[in-house]
Amino acid sequence: MNAGLIGVGKYAPPHIMTNEDLEQRLDTSDEWIRTMTGIEERRIADDETNTSHMGYNAAVEAIENAGIQPEDIGLILVATVTPDYPFPSVATMLQDQLGAKNAAAMDISAACAGFMYGIVTAKQFVESGTYENVLVVGVEKLSKITDWNDRNTAVLFGDGAGAAVVGKVSEGRGILSFELGADGSGGKYLYQDDKLKMNGREVFKFAVRQMGETAVNVIEKAGLEKDDVDYLIPHQANIRIMEASRERLGLPLEKMSKTIHKYGNTSAASIPISLVDDLAEGKVKDDDVIVLVGFGGGLTWGGICMRWGR
Ligand code: UT7
Repeated sequence: MNAGLIGVGKYAPPHIMTNEDLEQRLDTSDEWIRTMTGIEERRIADDETNTSHMGYNAAVEAIENAGIQPEDIGLILVATVTPDYPFPSVATMLQDQLGAKNAAAMDISAACAGFMYGIVTAKQFVESGTYENVLVVGVEKLSKITDWNDRNTAVLFGDGAGAAVVGKVSEGRGILSFELGADGSGGKYLYQDDKLKMNGREVFKFAVRQMGETAVNVIEKAGLEKDDVDYLIPHQANIRIMEASRERLGLPLEKMSKTIHKYGNTSAASIPISLVDDLAEGKVKDDDVIVLVGFGGGLTWGGICMRWGR
């Protein structure tokens, strides 16, 4: 039996913060942010909108898109490093709000690779026959842990949510292979101590190396060649990191997802948000081979190769 994504959804808060807005409060420029990161604007949630609200909205859309009922969900996994509270988990809050009365629920902490960790965990439960449907949500309100006086980080991040229902798909489709990994010795390069702290250079070097490596590994594990890949969805952290993984796979520009200019780095939400926008724009079609790859604080990384469609 194959597990795959049978429904997806997203939520982006309406308020847009542009690079020009940041120029007003920080010693930075639109020119620097665009060329060094690819970001033009990001969404920022208002004070009334917390992580669980954004996650709920994305989850509702994914459940509708999958054509299932909340009671059909056996497990809810929420990947986030910005939960409403240390506990209860965001996953249990969503379980209640959605009326998913048959679901177990827990959060996953793997930073920007969290959605990859969630999907791979969901796949195990679906393919073992334990749960028919697992809801995976990647959601962050990074604005609440951003140090708005630190130009090294304040320009990078945004808020948002993406979700997917993992369930059974037809033979040949779904998740073909995956890789998860961690290197805790690099935890010091990206962490939260009240506010988010980062050694950008070190994270950049790690990301360029690991994103390409993991993408190549999952293609090989799926028994495919680079030429078989129709589309790459990298974690939207920095256009230069994304470009390095695209070049590693030898893919043309139009075969890589790019939503970073609109949303900035939304951490665990970036890959599912991109997937939803790409599907809406017809960039991902049934039977396409797509590679999703992410990295983040921990350090953590994860990649998935899948054949799209139910
Ligand atoms: O999801 C994972 C989260 N983290 C990441 O993905 C971050 C990965 N790292 C990066 O994306 C890059 O390291 C950055 C975009 C953060 C920085 O790019 P860089 O090529 O590593 O530049 P740098 O940190 O070496 O800084 C170059 C210069 C420095 O000035 P000096 O020392 O050369 O005079 C910085 O102070 O750019 C300066 N700088 C800025 N200038 C204008 C740093 N931030 C800014 C800014 N505006 N916002």
